[in-house]
Amino acid sequence: MATGNKPRAAKVGRLGKLLARLPSSCPLLYPLYLAAQLDTVEDVYPSPLLPKAFDGWRIAFVTDVHYGVLLGADRVRALADRVNAWQADLVLLGGDYGEDAQTTLEFWRMRPGFQARVCAAGTVGNHDRTPPETLLGQIADAMRADGVHPLINDAMVLKKDGASLALASVDDVFNGQPDLEKTARLCQDADFTVFFPHNPDILPKTYEMPGGPFFQLALCGHTHGGQVALLGHSLRSSSDYGDRYRSGWYRENGVDILVSNGVGTSALPVRFGARPQVHLITLKRA
Ligand SMILES: [Fe+2]
Repeated sequence: MATGNKPRAAKVGRLGKLLARLPSSCPLLYPLYLAAQLDTVEDVYPSPLLPKAFDGWRIAFVTDVHYGVLLGADRVRALADRVNAWQADLVLLGGDYGEDAQTTLEFWRMRPGFQARVCAAGTVGNHDRTPPETLLGQIADAMRADGVHPLINDAMVLKKDGASLALASVDDVFNGQPDLEKTARLCQDADFTVFFPHNPDILPKTYEMPGGPFFQLALCGHTHGGQVALLGHSLRSSSDYGDRYRSGWYRENGVDILVSNGVGTSALPVRFGARPQVHLITLKRA
């Protein structure tokens, strides 16, 4: 699946735009209908490593919105309303807000207004990291203006009752310049770290780091659950690891991983066997 140095972001072609105009509410057009749905997936995540101070904290995890011709401003506002109604402690945004860097900038300048009780933070995905490179700074500024901390090769450490919880993410592994060493250093004193890179393909690189992975829980997107999947297999995977990280929970090298199907679609507004998802995860010390 590697494409040399070319930025990886599927273009929305004429067929995609045409399909986006068809009535997605018609069940006969099932793949179009499914792409317009959105499931809330609730999980309780138990960990003996979680400090007691963060027991019961709730994380809203939203990724791969893909705002643009296939998913408009009305659905972005409905998404923010749904997430904000949860009043989660943390809102983490996994990237691919638009179809390319320009639509991602438009997404943030629209001020979707994701709100968290404690902190909202976001990273970037391959679609956010298309040329020109100069848009990255503008995207980060627009995120800040909307109350979301951009974490791109960066981390923030939250403290409560003498315990610490780090939130961390990196630049996109396909189109950006991820700096795992720097990000890991920023988390080294935290009692528990939630790492939310856009693409799970970066995870095996963390297993090779001195001391192993620097996080306990990873939340990722990118794969869209295959977007079109038959019997649990992607028709065409966007991961270099095929279906290793297609969808759902995994455990590797002592860390827990959730890969979301994401909200939107890429290239064509169709889904099959991979329902759109947003997540509400309750952290549990167990
Ligand atoms: Fe995506």
